[in-house]
Amino acid sequence: MILEAQRGGYAIGSFNTSDLEITKAIVSAATRLKAPVMIETSEKAIGYAGLEEIAGIVKSAAKNARIPVALHLDHGTNLDLINRCLEVGYTSIMFDGSKLSFEENQILTRQAVEMAHRKNVPCEGELGSIMKAPKKSAFRQVYPIAIDKGFTDPNLVSEFVRNTGIDFLAISFGSQHGIGDNEELDIDLLKEINSKTSIPLVLHGASGVPESDVKKAIKNGISKINIDTDIRHTFSKAIFEIPKKFPELSDPRDIMGKVMSEIQKVVEEKIKMFGSDGKASA
Ligand code: G3H
Ligand code: ZN
Repeated sequence: MILEAQRGGYAIGSFNTSDLEITKAIVSAATRLKAPVMIETSEKAIGYAGLEEIAGIVKSAAKNARIPVALHLDHGTNLDLINRCLEVGYTSIMFDGSKLSFEENQILTRQAVEMAHRKNVPCEGELGSIMKAPKKSAFRQVYPIAIDKGFTDPNLVSEFVRNTGIDFLAISFGSQHGIGDNEELDIDLLKEINSKTSIPLVLHGASGVPESDVKKAIKNGISKINIDTDIRHTFSKAIFEIPKKFPELSDPRDIMGKVMSEIQKVVEEKIKMFGSDGKASA
Protein backbone atom coordinates (compact mmCIF):
# COMPACT_ATOMS: atom_id res chain seq x y z
CA MET A 1 0.00 0.00 0.00
CA ILE A 2 2.74 2.46 0.99
CA LEU A 3 5.03 1.49 -1.88
CA GLU A 4 2.20 2.11 -4.32
CA ALA A 5 1.65 5.52 -2.73
CA GLN A 6 5.37 6.26 -3.07
CA ARG A 7 5.24 5.35 -6.77
CA GLY A 8 2.01 7.30 -7.29
CA GLY A 9 3.11 10.49 -5.52
CA TYR A 10 0.45 10.48 -2.78
CA ALA A 11 0.38 9.43 0.87
CA ILE A 12 -1.57 6.83 2.83
CA GLY A 13 -3.47 8.22 5.80
CA SER A 14 -2.69 6.33 8.97
CA PHE A 15 -5.39 7.22 11.48
CA ASN A 16 -5.30 6.44 15.21
CA THR A 17 -8.21 4.61 16.79
CA SER A 18 -9.01 3.41 20.27
CA ASP A 19 -12.59 2.28 19.87
CA LEU A 20 -15.45 1.11 17.69
CA GLU A 21 -16.75 4.57 16.80
CA ILE A 22 -13.45 6.02 15.52
CA THR A 23 -12.73 2.82 13.61
CA LYS A 24 -16.11 2.86 11.89
CA ALA A 25 -15.76 6.55 11.03
CA ILE A 26 -12.33 5.97 9.45
CA VAL A 27 -13.56 3.02 7.40
CA SER A 28 -16.68 4.93 6.25
CA ALA A 29 -14.53 7.88 5.14
CA ALA A 30 -12.06 5.69 3.27
CA THR A 31 -14.84 3.65 1.67
CA ARG A 32 -16.72 6.74 0.48
CA LEU A 33 -13.52 8.13 -1.07
CA LYS A 34 -12.22 4.75 -2.31
CA ALA A 35 -8.97 5.22 -0.42
CA PRO A 36 -6.62 2.57 0.92
CA VAL A 37 -6.16 3.31 4.60
CA MET A 38 -4.16 2.37 7.68
CA ILE A 39 -5.76 2.22 11.11
CA GLU A 40 -3.26 2.42 13.92
CA THR A 41 -3.32 1.90 17.67
CA SER A 42 -0.89 3.43 20.12
CA GLU A 43 0.18 1.62 23.30
CA LYS A 44 -2.19 3.94 25.20
CA ALA A 45 -5.10 2.97 22.94
CA ILE A 46 -4.30 -0.70 23.47
CA GLY A 47 -4.22 -0.08 27.24
CA TYR A 48 -7.62 1.62 27.00
CA ALA A 49 -9.45 -0.83 24.76
CA GLY A 50 -7.54 -4.09 25.28
CA LEU A 51 -5.38 -5.59 22.55
CA GLU A 52 -7.68 -8.37 21.44
CA GLU A 53 -10.72 -6.12 21.63
CA ILE A 54 -9.31 -3.31 19.48
CA ALA A 55 -7.62 -5.71 17.05
CA GLY A 56 -10.90 -7.60 16.70
CA ILE A 57 -12.83 -4.41 15.92
CA VAL A 58 -10.34 -3.23 13.27
CA LYS A 59 -9.87 -6.67 11.73
CA SER A 60 -13.57 -7.27 11.29
CA ALA A 61 -14.07 -3.75 9.88
CA ALA A 62 -11.18 -4.46 7.47
CA LYS A 63 -12.62 -7.80 6.43
CA ASN A 64 -15.97 -6.28 5.57
CA ALA A 65 -14.59 -3.17 3.88
CA ARG A 66 -14.45 -2.76 0.11
CA ILE A 67 -11.12 -0.95 0.38
CA PRO A 68 -7.72 -2.17 1.68
CA VAL A 69 -7.39 -1.56 5.44
CA ALA A 70 -4.14 -2.22 7.32
CA LEU A 71 -3.91 -2.61 11.10
CA HIS A 72 -0.75 -0.91 12.35
CA LEU A 73 0.94 -0.68 15.77
CA ASP A 74 1.91 2.96 16.30
CA HIS A 75 5.01 3.83 18.39
CA GLY A 76 5.58 0.34 19.80
CA THR A 77 8.32 0.60 22.39
CA ASN A 78 8.62 -2.96 23.61
CA LEU A 79 9.25 -6.16 21.77
CA ASP A 80 6.85 -8.16 23.90
CA LEU A 81 3.93 -5.99 22.80
CA ILE A 82 5.10 -6.22 19.19
CA ASN A 83 5.07 -9.99 19.50
CA ARG A 84 1.52 -9.94 20.90
CA CYS A 85 0.36 -7.62 18.12
CA LEU A 86 1.83 -9.96 15.51
CA GLU A 87 0.07 -12.88 17.20
CA VAL A 88 -3.35 -11.19 17.02
CA GLY A 89 -2.96 -10.28 13.36
CA TYR A 90 -1.53 -6.78 13.03
CA THR A 91 -0.51 -6.30 9.40
CA SER A 92 2.07 -3.58 10.05
CA ILE A 93 4.11 -2.52 13.06
CA MET A 94 6.35 0.29 14.25
CA PHE A 95 9.22 0.08 16.67
CA ASP A 96 9.94 3.47 18.20
CA GLY A 97 13.44 3.56 19.65
CA SER A 98 13.70 7.33 19.41
CA LYS A 99 14.26 7.71 23.16
CA LEU A 100 17.21 5.29 23.01
CA SER A 101 20.79 5.89 21.88
CA PHE A 102 21.41 5.51 18.15
CA GLU A 103 23.09 2.13 18.77
CA GLU A 104 20.31 0.76 20.99
CA ASN A 105 17.66 2.06 18.61
CA GLN A 106 19.34 0.16 15.77
CA ILE A 107 19.66 -3.09 17.73
CA LEU A 108 16.06 -3.19 18.99
CA THR A 109 14.59 -1.98 15.71
CA ARG A 110 16.50 -4.78 13.94
CA GLN A 111 14.94 -7.31 16.33
CA ALA A 112 11.45 -5.90 15.70
CA VAL A 113 12.05 -6.09 11.94
CA GLU A 114 13.09 -9.75 12.20
CA MET A 115 9.99 -10.60 14.26
CA ALA A 116 7.72 -8.79 11.80
CA HIS A 117 9.34 -10.14 8.64
CA ARG A 118 8.98 -13.71 9.91
CA LYS A 119 5.24 -13.06 9.58
CA ASN A 120 5.56 -11.13 6.32
CA VAL A 121 4.64 -7.94 8.11
CA PRO A 122 6.44 -4.66 7.35
CA CYS A 123 8.11 -2.63 10.09
CA GLU A 124 8.48 1.14 10.53
CA GLY A 125 11.37 2.62 12.50
CA GLU A 126 12.00 6.11 13.86
CA LEU A 127 15.17 8.17 13.61
CA GLY A 128 15.26 11.50 15.39
CA SER A 129 12.42 12.21 17.75
CA ILE A 130 9.02 13.77 17.08
CA MET A 131 8.49 16.12 19.99
CA LYS A 132 5.24 16.67 21.86
CA ALA A 133 3.68 20.07 21.22
CA PRO A 134 4.39 22.18 24.32
CA LYS A 135 1.52 23.66 26.32
CA LYS A 136 3.05 27.15 26.04
CA SER A 137 5.29 28.81 23.51
CA ALA A 138 8.68 28.56 25.26
CA PHE A 139 9.55 25.83 22.78
CA ARG A 140 11.95 27.85 20.67
CA GLN A 141 13.94 28.98 23.69
CA VAL A 142 14.19 25.45 25.04
CA TYR A 143 15.22 23.96 21.70
CA PRO A 144 17.18 26.71 19.90
CA ILE A 145 18.80 24.64 17.16
CA ALA A 146 17.36 22.06 14.83
CA ILE A 147 19.14 18.99 16.14
CA ASP A 148 17.98 19.78 19.73
CA LYS A 149 14.39 19.76 18.55
CA GLY A 150 14.87 16.09 17.81
CA PHE A 151 15.18 16.62 14.06
CA THR A 152 16.47 13.62 12.13
CA ASP A 153 20.17 13.75 11.34
CA PRO A 154 20.39 13.04 7.58
CA ASN A 155 23.92 11.69 7.99
CA LEU A 156 22.61 8.72 9.99
CA VAL A 157 19.78 7.74 7.65
CA SER A 158 21.54 5.32 5.26
CA GLU A 159 23.28 3.49 8.09
CA PHE A 160 20.05 3.20 10.12
CA VAL A 161 18.03 1.88 7.20
CA ARG A 162 20.76 -0.57 6.15
CA ASN A 163 21.46 -1.91 9.65
CA THR A 164 17.84 -2.29 10.71
CA GLY A 165 16.18 -3.51 7.50
CA ILE A 166 13.08 -1.35 8.14
CA ASP A 167 10.47 -0.95 5.42
CA PHE A 168 9.58 2.70 6.11
CA LEU A 169 11.09 5.43 8.23
CA ALA A 170 9.48 7.99 10.56
CA ILE A 171 11.46 11.21 10.57
CA SER A 172 11.39 14.46 12.49
CA PHE A 173 11.58 17.67 10.48
CA GLY A 174 9.24 20.18 12.12
CA SER A 175 5.97 18.49 13.04
CA GLN A 176 5.03 17.84 16.64
CA HIS A 177 2.68 15.36 18.27
CA GLY A 178 -0.42 17.35 19.17
CA ILE A 179 -1.01 20.84 17.87
CA GLY A 180 2.00 23.15 18.19
CA ASP A 181 2.30 26.91 17.82
CA ASN A 182 4.35 26.61 14.68
CA GLU A 183 4.56 23.33 12.84
CA GLU A 184 6.24 24.57 9.71
CA LEU A 185 8.11 21.72 8.05
CA ASP A 186 11.78 21.93 7.07
CA ILE A 187 11.37 20.79 3.47
CA ASP A 188 15.10 21.17 2.69
CA LEU A 189 15.89 18.73 5.49
CA LEU A 190 13.23 16.35 4.13
CA LYS A 191 14.80 16.56 0.67
CA GLU A 192 18.20 15.75 2.12
CA ILE A 193 16.85 12.78 4.10
CA ASN A 194 14.97 11.54 1.03
CA SER A 195 18.18 11.62 -1.01
CA LYS A 196 19.79 9.19 1.47
CA THR A 197 17.29 6.34 1.17
CA SER A 198 14.83 4.82 -1.25
CA ILE A 199 12.36 3.56 1.39
CA PRO A 200 9.12 5.51 2.00
CA LEU A 201 9.20 8.21 4.68
CA VAL A 202 6.55 8.80 7.33
CA LEU A 203 5.24 12.11 8.66
CA HIS A 204 4.10 11.88 12.28
CA GLY A 205 2.29 14.57 14.21
CA ALA A 206 0.47 15.82 11.14
CA SER A 207 -2.44 17.40 13.05
CA GLY A 208 -1.53 21.07 13.14
CA VAL A 209 0.78 21.01 10.11
CA PRO A 210 -0.39 23.54 7.49
CA GLU A 211 -1.96 21.92 4.41
CA SER A 212 0.55 23.58 2.06
CA ASP A 213 3.44 22.00 4.01
CA VAL A 214 1.74 18.59 4.00
CA LYS A 215 1.49 18.78 0.22
CA LYS A 216 5.14 19.81 -0.17
CA ALA A 217 6.14 16.92 2.11
CA ILE A 218 4.24 14.43 -0.09
CA LYS A 219 6.06 15.77 -3.15
CA ASN A 220 9.38 15.15 -1.41
CA GLY A 221 9.15 11.57 -0.18
CA ILE A 222 6.45 11.36 2.50
CA SER A 223 4.21 8.36 1.71
CA LYS A 224 2.46 7.69 5.04
CA ILE A 225 0.94 10.37 7.27
CA ASN A 226 -0.21 9.84 10.85
CA ILE A 227 -3.21 11.69 12.28
CA ASP A 228 -4.40 11.34 15.85
CA THR A 229 -5.05 14.64 17.68
CA ASP A 230 -7.45 16.07 15.07
CA ILE A 231 -9.59 12.96 15.46
CA ARG A 232 -9.57 12.97 19.26
CA HIS A 233 -10.32 16.71 19.44
CA THR A 234 -13.21 16.30 17.01
CA PHE A 235 -14.54 13.40 19.08
CA SER A 236 -14.34 15.30 22.39
CA LYS A 237 -15.87 18.47 20.96
CA ALA A 238 -18.72 16.56 19.29
CA ILE A 239 -19.53 14.60 22.40
CA PHE A 240 -20.15 17.86 24.30
CA GLU A 241 -21.82 19.81 21.53
CA ILE A 242 -24.17 17.26 19.97
CA PRO A 243 -26.35 16.70 23.08
CA LYS A 244 -26.63 20.51 23.41
CA LYS A 245 -27.53 20.97 19.76
CA PHE A 246 -29.97 18.04 19.66
CA PRO A 247 -31.54 17.91 23.15
CA GLU A 248 -34.24 15.56 21.84
CA LEU A 249 -31.65 12.78 21.46
CA SER A 250 -31.48 10.41 24.42
CA ASP A 251 -30.32 7.14 22.84
CA PRO A 252 -26.52 7.06 23.02
CA ARG A 253 -26.45 5.31 19.65
CA ASP A 254 -28.10 8.33 18.03
CA ILE A 255 -25.64 10.68 19.72
CA MET A 256 -22.64 8.53 18.78
CA GLY A 257 -23.94 8.27 15.21
CA LYS A 258 -23.63 12.04 14.89
CA VAL A 259 -20.22 11.99 16.62
CA MET A 260 -19.04 9.45 14.04
CA SER A 261 -20.24 11.67 11.18
CA GLU A 262 -18.08 14.52 12.54
CA ILE A 263 -15.02 12.25 12.73
CA GLN A 264 -15.72 10.91 9.26
CA LYS A 265 -15.71 14.48 7.86
CA VAL A 266 -12.25 15.13 9.32
CA VAL A 267 -10.86 11.86 7.98
CA GLU A 268 -12.30 12.60 4.53
CA GLU A 269 -10.61 16.04 4.53
CA LYS A 270 -7.28 14.43 5.36
CA ILE A 271 -7.63 11.70 2.73
CA LYS A 272 -8.26 14.35 0.08
CA MET A 273 -5.31 16.41 1.36
CA PHE A 274 -3.05 13.35 1.09
CA GLY A 275 -4.28 12.50 -2.43
CA SER A 276 -5.14 8.88 -1.61
CA ASP A 277 -8.79 9.26 -2.64
CA GLY A 278 -9.71 7.05 -5.57
CA LYS A 279 -6.52 4.99 -5.16
CA ALA A 280 -8.09 1.79 -3.82
CA SER A 281 -7.97 -0.80 -6.55
CA ALA A 282 -11.35 -2.52 -6.96
O1 G3H B 1 1.70 8.54 15.75
C1 G3H B 1 0.71 9.29 15.71
C2 G3H B 1 0.81 10.58 15.07
O2 G3H B 1 2.09 10.99 14.89
C3 G3H B 1 -0.24 11.57 15.42
O3 G3H B 1 0.17 12.90 15.59
O4 G3H B 1 -1.61 13.65 17.14
O5 G3H B 1 -0.21 15.32 15.95
O6 G3H B 1 -1.87 13.96 14.69
P1 G3H B 1 -0.94 14.02 15.86
ZN1 ZN C 1 3.57 9.64 16.02
